[in-house]
Amino acid sequence: MTVKKKQINDLLKSASEAANLIREYIEEEKTIHVASHYDADGLAAAGVIGKSLVRLGGRFRVRIERWLDENVVDGIATAGKTALTIFTDFGSGDLNLLGERLSNRRAIILDHHQPVGETPSAFVHVNPHLHGIDGSRDLSGAGVAYLVAKALDKTNVDLACVATVGALGDLQDKYGKRGLGGINETIVEDAVSSGLLKYETDLLFFGRETRPIHKVLAFTTNPFIPGISGEEDASYAFLVQRVGIKPKSKDKWLALRDLSEEEKKKLFSAIADHLASKGLPSDIALRLIGNVYTLTQEEPWTPLRDAREFAVLLNATGRMEEPSLGVAICMGDRAAALERANTMLVEYRRTITKCLNWLNEKPSRIQELNSIYVVRGENFIHENLIGTVSSILSTSLPKHEKPIIAYSAVSGEGLIKVSARALDILADRGLNLGEILRIAAEKYSGKGGGHDVAAGAQVPIESMESFVELVNELVKKRLEEKQLGG
Ligand code: C5P
Ligand code: ZN
Repeated sequence: MTVKKKQINDLLKSASEAANLIREYIEEEKTIHVASHYDADGLAAAGVIGKSLVRLGGRFRVRIERWLDENVVDGIATAGKTALTIFTDFGSGDLNLLGERLSNRRAIILDHHQPVGETPSAFVHVNPHLHGIDGSRDLSGAGVAYLVAKALDKTNVDLACVATVGALGDLQDKYGKRGLGGINETIVEDAVSSGLLKYETDLLFFGRETRPIHKVLAFTTNPFIPGISGEEDASYAFLVQRVGIKPKSKDKWLALRDLSEEEKKKLFSAIADHLASKGLPSDIALRLIGNVYTLTQEEPWTPLRDAREFAVLLNATGRMEEPSLGVAICMGDRAAALERANTMLVEYRRTITKCLNWLNEKPSRIQELNSIYVVRGENFIHENLIGTVSSILSTSLPKHEKPIIAYSAVSGEGLIKVSARALDILADRGLNLGEILRIAAEKYSGKGGGHDVAAGAQVPIESMESFVELVNELVKKRLEEKQLGG
C-alpha cells in the first residue's frame, strides 16, 4: 500500500498530541503508567516509551499483560486516579471496555491493531489504521511508540533500532526480500543514519557471524525446516551428508560468514530440495533469503546483534514470564539482564521444540478441516507459547491456502487461548482473521481481534468445538465471497 503524505502527516500530528500530553504530566510531576503487551513488539514499545520518559525525568511504572480484560483495566483504574496511562501495542481493539472502565481518565493509546469501538473522549489515540495506513505491515506498536518518542525529543532517534526489532517481532517483513516497508522503512532509515543499523541481503539465519553453522540451522524457525529446526544433531548430519560441508575446520567451528558464495548456494539448494521433499511449496525456501538487519553497536556474539534474533529474545522473556527483562534490555540494560534473558532464550527454544514434537506425535493434534487447520495444544502447550507455535506452523504446514487456528487451555480460567495465523496470499484474497476471530469469539461470550494475518481470541473452553467450526465456516464464506466478487 502506498502511504500518502497527508496520511503520514495526520498520524504524526496525533503522535505530537500524545507527546504534548506526556510532557504536561512530566512537568506537573505526575505519575505515568505504561501498560503494554507481552510479545516482542509490546516489550519493544514499552522500552521505547520507558527510555523516553527516563530521559525527560518522568515518574513512571510499566506493567506488562498478555491481554486487556476487565480485571486488568480495573487494576489500572485503581492504580492512581490522577495518573496518565499509556497503553502500548494494545488498547485499540478494546475501546469500549476502556471507555466504560476509565471514563474521564486521561490516557494515550499507541497501537497498531484494528480499532474496534469509539475512542473515549479524554483519550489520545495514535494508530495508523485511523489514517488509512496498514497497521499489520507498515507500522508496529513499537513503531507508533517511536513516533511519539521522536516527537518528545529528537535525541530519541537512537530508539529507531528498538522499533525495528518490534516490527520484525510482529513479522512485518512482508515487502520484497523480506524487508520492512511503509513507515517502518523510514524508521529503519532513521536507525541507519544514526549509525546503529545496517541491512543487506543474505541467507536469513540467526548468528550468521559467530555461531557454528549446524546450530544456526537448528535455530531457524522462520521458515520452519522439518527435521532440522530445533534439531542440532540432525542439522549437523545434514550439513555433512547432504551439503558436503564440514562444520569444523582445524578445531574451529565454521560460521556462515566463513562460507564462500558457492558453498552458500549449495547450502540453500540443499535446504530447498529438503523442503520440497517434505511437500512444502517452493516459495517457502525463498523465505531464507532476504534483508538481514544488523544492530551494528551490539556485541557480535549476543542475540541482540541480529534484529530478528533480538525479537526472539524479547519474546522469550515475555512468554516465559520475565517481561521486565525484555523491557530493561530495550531501555539499554545489558550485563545481568542480558545474561538472564539468554538463559530464558535457551529454555524458550527447548520448550518450543518440545511442543512441536508433541504436536507431531499424533495426527489428531494437527487436524485439517475444510478451510482451516486446527492445532490442538490442549493442556500441553502453555497458552503463552501457542502464538509462537502457530507462527512457526504457518510456514510449515503443506496447504498455504488454509489458515491455522491453534489453541491451548488457559489453566484455572475455563478458557482457551486461540492464536490464528494466515499467510499473506490469504489476506490478498480478502481474509481478515482479526475480524473473523472477533465475530466468532463474541458469539460464544469470548473476545477476539488482531490483524488480518495474525489474530487471537479467548473463548470459554466448553464452546471450543463450536467456535472452531464457526471459524471454519466464516473462513470458507469469506474466501468464497471474495472469489465470486473477483
Ligand atoms: O496472541 P497472538 O500472538 O496469537 O495474537 C495475535 C495478534 O492478535 C496479536 O497482535 C494480539 O495482540 C492480537 N489479539 C487481539 N485480541 C485478542 C487476542 C489477540 O487483538 N483477543
Ligand atoms: Zn504489535
